[in-house]
Amino acid sequence: MHAAGGSAALRADNARFVTKKLWGCANEAPYFHHGRFTTLREAVLNHFGEADASRLGFLALDSYGRDCVIEFLKSLQIPPPGTEHRIVDERMKPRSWPPFPGTN
Ligand code: HEM
Repeated sequence: MHAAGGSAALRADNARFVTKKLWGCANEAPYFHHGRFTTLREAVLNHFGEADASRLGFLALDSYGRDCVIEFLKSLQIPPPGTEHRIVDERMKPRSWPPFPGTN
């Protein structure tokens, strides 16, 4: 990544781009490298290119299914040290699970 374009040093690498981990994404708004997306839904809807299938798969879900994906992503958070509750909302306040009673 830090070698000059077209140089042997650049090509010596494995040329693979590893996408960042999703764990903790709920703590990391705004999203994408430019921080242009303020919600996880916007982030998912702005996958194109190689990730287009993921966006289309998301769009193929009904609204309940899409909400489930977003709720799952919101659960991928790393609580700060000292957090007392195991299941928390995006403000680290305790929340009940499942979010919609009777659906699990
Ligand atoms: C259902 C499947 C997927 C979900 C839910 C998902 C979700 C996300 C989310 C929430 C982010 C924002 C992370 C952040 O900024 O902290 C992100 C970024 C990203 N995702 Fe995905 N993703 C999916 C599939 C994919 C696939 C298949 C690829 C590539 C083939 C991909 C490539 C990327 C890249 C490159 C970024 C960073 C973009 C940037 O910073 O400009 N994603 N993804």
